[in-house]
Amino acid sequence: MSKATILVIDDEKGIRDMLGYTLQQEGYGFISAENGREGLKKALENDIDLVITDIKMPDMEGTEVLEQVKRAKPDVEVIMATGYVTIETSIESLRKGAYDYISKPFNIDEMLMTVGKALEYSRLKKTVIKDGEILGRLRELDTIKTEFLSNVSHELRTPLMSIKNSLDLLADEFNGKLSESGKTLFGVCVRNSVRMGNLVSELMEFSKMESGSFEIKKKKIALKPVVDEVLAEMIPVAGAKKISLLSEFEGGISPGEEINADPDRIKQVLINLTANAVKFTPEGGKITVDVKRLSSPSRGEAPLAGEGGLIEISVTDTGIGISPENLEKVFQKFYQVKAAQSESIKGIGLGLAIAKNIVEAHGGRIWVESGPLPIGPDLSSNGLSGSLPGTKFIFTLPI
Ligand SMILES: Nc1ncnc2c1ncn2[C@@H]1O[C@H](COP(=O)(O)OP(=O)(O)OP(=O)(O)O)[C@@H](O)[C@H]1O
Ligand SMILES: [Mg+2]
Repeated sequence: MSKATILVIDDEKGIRDMLGYTLQQEGYGFISAENGREGLKKALENDIDLVITDIKMPDMEGTEVLEQVKRAKPDVEVIMATGYVTIETSIESLRKGAYDYISKPFNIDEMLMTVGKALEYSRLKKTVIKDGEILGRLRELDTIKTEFLSNVSHELRTPLMSIKNSLDLLADEFNGKLSESGKTLFGVCVRNSVRMGNLVSELMEFSKMESGSFEIKKKKIALKPVVDEVLAEMIPVAGAKKISLLSEFEGGISPGEEINADPDRIKQVLINLTANAVKFTPEGGKITVDVKRLSSPSRGEAPLAGEGGLIEISVTDTGIGISPENLEKVFQKFYQVKAAQSESIKGIGLGLAIAKNIVEAHGGRIWVESGPLPIGPDLSSNGLSGSLPGTKFIFTLPI
């Protein structure tokens, strides 16, 4: 980046020469003018970053120069130079937008320091303005994206429903009449329409969250049936990879004990956590859902809420794990760890962002641990995943 250009306006030739010599020595671009009028003209005509103007000049007051420069070029900083500084002129100049003063005769070091500071200030000011603009534009794009997702997911839903319904009808009509390869192809259609349905629901859910129209309907529920339902739904996918699914209720919580929560939403969180666990755990692994009552606050949690305290639910797997730098990031919308994708494990990276939203809407917290140490299950129980770090997602819910 080339150094800044400075315009010096002073009726004394000695001063102009001295400043010109010093500033050019420092590598600054230098322009000079011998009176206010000429100075203003040069200020407007040239691409300058800073003005040093004398206050007392025969044709025009320095403060007048200051005002006009600031009006025409607000980004240009102006330093006032004067032989005698009165409080009145100082205040007046500062009020009119001067950056600072230097007093004559100049102390070269002080003068260069003030020039440096003024230029830095002007640079920072421009950056802040630029950042503000970028932020505004990013927000705008984010809104457009959310609206787009909402429209697209709604539009996809209708034809998808008709594909699903047609597949159901076809299944009724041709059940048993299909050849082996026909059955395989039919299975592909059904599985993919289900997968696409899940994707569309996830997108719709997400756009609802982004637009603030997402609702939680709390009621008294027992967790055990919710956990059982989730595990039952996961059996086919987990079974295909010979992954075992377990659940445990401990820490003084009885399986029938009720908490105040939205059962569909909690199920949704657990489905995503267990589906992730299955996706990122190799064949023969193990997934455990643990539910316990917390006797003490966990990870900076507020003291136990209400009279009932907190329930902690965790999903632990024996899979590939998450590296420390990604532990926070996985909760960001659309974030996926690169390595996982190479194993053709698809998804759109919204599951955890949605889960976090749901847990927080219940007044809970969600986080993840990975690595050999904090993980509960015995990793050596099977040869395949024994050497993997495993992952444990934990969330809390007030009772
Ligand atoms: N149990 C896990 N083990 C290892 N990595 C995980 C685990 N759970 C999540 N991740 C990482 O976090 C990322 C984000 O997870 P998230 O559930 O938000 O999205 P996804 O599963 O990729 O897609 P989606 O849930 O939208 O279908 C995953 O892509 C993966 O890289
Ligand atoms: Mg997921």
